[in-house]
Amino acid sequence: MKSSTLVISVGGSIVVPNGEIATDFLKAFKKTLVSHAKKGWKFVIVVGGGGTARSYQSAAKDVGPVTRDDLDWLGIHSTRLNGHLMRTVFRDVAHPVMYKDPTRVPKRFKERVLVAAGWKPGWSTDYVATRIAKRLGAGMVLNLSNVDYLYTADPRKDKTATPICEIGWKDFRKMVGDTWDPGMNVPFDPVASRLAHNAGIQAVLLNGTNLENLSNVLDGKSFVGTVIG
Ligand code: UTP
Repeated sequence: MKSSTLVISVGGSIVVPNGEIATDFLKAFKKTLVSHAKKGWKFVIVVGGGGTARSYQSAAKDVGPVTRDDLDWLGIHSTRLNGHLMRTVFRDVAHPVMYKDPTRVPKRFKERVLVAAGWKPGWSTDYVATRIAKRLGAGMVLNLSNVDYLYTADPRKDKTATPICEIGWKDFRKMVGDTWDPGMNVPFDPVASRLAHNAGIQAVLLNGTNLENLSNVLDGKSFVGTVIG
């Protein structure tokens, strides 16, 4: 059986939407990945911090004073907690180690799933996912959030915002800029975008709560989402 590895950056916002863990999402996500693992896929799942990261960061800011690195570290620990949850949920098919350092992720592993989380201050788990994709020689990072597309503007604030199906890294990077802010909420982080652009890695943005759509990507069918790169 042919085996292809896909790196998936799972936005914490779909694992911990508002401080509550989305157990229905975890059940359906596991079912989807396990069924595709039987068809030959392997998955590296990199988890974000979601509501956990945001609430710890805002509590620390309120009490203060805190540095940018302090805020990033609170985010990193949140991603690691979510990473441990993910590895536990996938325990029967996952590599036993939850990786905190993308440079140590094994280039080959026998399990169907490997889980990683935040590494160091200065970027998000999108960057960790891109580092792992580069290390494994994967040409793509799948980025799951709770929106269907990249839009020309924030659709919650701007009624004229339209979806973008395909965009090059140069134009995308003009939209998100080049600098990192702890807890930043962008479709794909600027530091990860720079690495992906330089390494020739594509990012595919999807709404992760639509698991049928994720299956379409894995089956090579047409899907709803945005391809960057
Ligand atoms: P993410 O920003 O990756 O989580 O990490 P998220 O919840 O998926 O974010 P969305 O949903 O894509 O917006 C949470 C925070 O952890 C810190 C950053 O502050 C980041 O905003 N972090 C994470 C790091 O500093 N370094 C890392 O390697 C990972």
